[in-house]
Amino acid sequence: LANGLADTPPMGWNSWNHFSCNINETVIRETADALVSTGLAKLGYKYVNIDDCWAEKTRDQKGNLVARKSTFPSGIKALADYVHSKGLKLGIYSDSGTMTCSKTMPGSLGHEEQDAQTFASWGIDYLKYDNCNNEGIKPTVRYPIMTRALMNTGRPIFFSLCEWGDLHPALWGSKVGNSWRTTNDISDTWSSMMYIADMNEYYADYARPGGWNDPDMLEVGNGGMTKDEYEVHFSIWAISKAPLLIGCDVKSITNETLHILGNKEVIAVNQDSLGVQAKKVRSEGDLEVWAGPLSNYRIVVLLVNRGPVSAEITAHWDDIGLPPKTAVVTRDLWDHMDWKQRPTDSMTAMVASHGCKMFVLKPVS
Ligand code: GLA
Repeated sequence: LANGLADTPPMGWNSWNHFSCNINETVIRETADALVSTGLAKLGYKYVNIDDCWAEKTRDQKGNLVARKSTFPSGIKALADYVHSKGLKLGIYSDSGTMTCSKTMPGSLGHEEQDAQTFASWGIDYLKYDNCNNEGIKPTVRYPIMTRALMNTGRPIFFSLCEWGDLHPALWGSKVGNSWRTTNDISDTWSSMMYIADMNEYYADYARPGGWNDPDMLEVGNGGMTKDEYEVHFSIWAISKAPLLIGCDVKSITNETLHILGNKEVIAVNQDSLGVQAKKVRSEGDLEVWAGPLSNYRIVVLLVNRGPVSAEITAHWDDIGLPPKTAVVTRDLWDHMDWKQRPTDSMTAMVASHGCKMFVLKPVS
């Protein structure tokens, strides 16, 4: 969607993966504080996104959505003012049906203009728009109504389509929103994460500046995977030009998690100006090579070992898009080291079980 808000994939945090419906204004405020104090905000994580369960179950007499009194007593406008005062942006959640997925609050179906105006008047910067309880109306009918309603507010609002149904939002999402889900919900396990990575890869050709494939939010730091597995998770999301929306509790983030989410070089791959999603270019059993082009003739290569034991994985220039006998400077983005290779046709590295190696290759003469 050409609203200038998604030249690179969005970065920030969302409440759902860790807090689910147990949210309140203190959690949101303290998360904003923590994004700043940990340095994550400076690295680009600027959206603070409230997910489902923030509103009262019924609208007011004028039909307006109202923040839930017991958990958001100061209201969303005050929260937006607070988040903005920290240099961050506030996101919110609604649904293109009669009720949201949790069924604890109304959806925006039939109230699109009114709700978009409400969000804009509160100072909302990002809308995640879900697909539950949709009365069987096609998403290609329901979603564009909200696109227009957001445009009509005149406020720049990032529009995230949360729909991954039979109509393959990757095929129509770029005219309607800034990102679209390509998969069902992620859970905090290696098998769920890799399953979703594969599903999202299928749509790689549809991602580009303005609109991105969304394989769902990050689970890094939620405890269900090992450090190596979380590095694979973050690396695949980065090369896939996925939204980098942190899903853990940033208020109590560990150094290990911060080290992963705060890897500047990996973030730079995600935010690269070329905006091309990497693909799986070779897989032999459990051993995979993912690669994609970056700006300035560089190439990102991710070697992934899905198997139970360490193994050598080779990336062939032929597979990753380099001419034969090309010499490269290879940068390891997790070990932060580089070395120059003579003219060659491939590179090989040892990769741990459920681990990865991530490289940026720059051709040199
Ligand atoms: C759906 C979405 C999730 C989350 C929940 C909230 O399942 O895919 O990301 O927003 O709804 O109920």
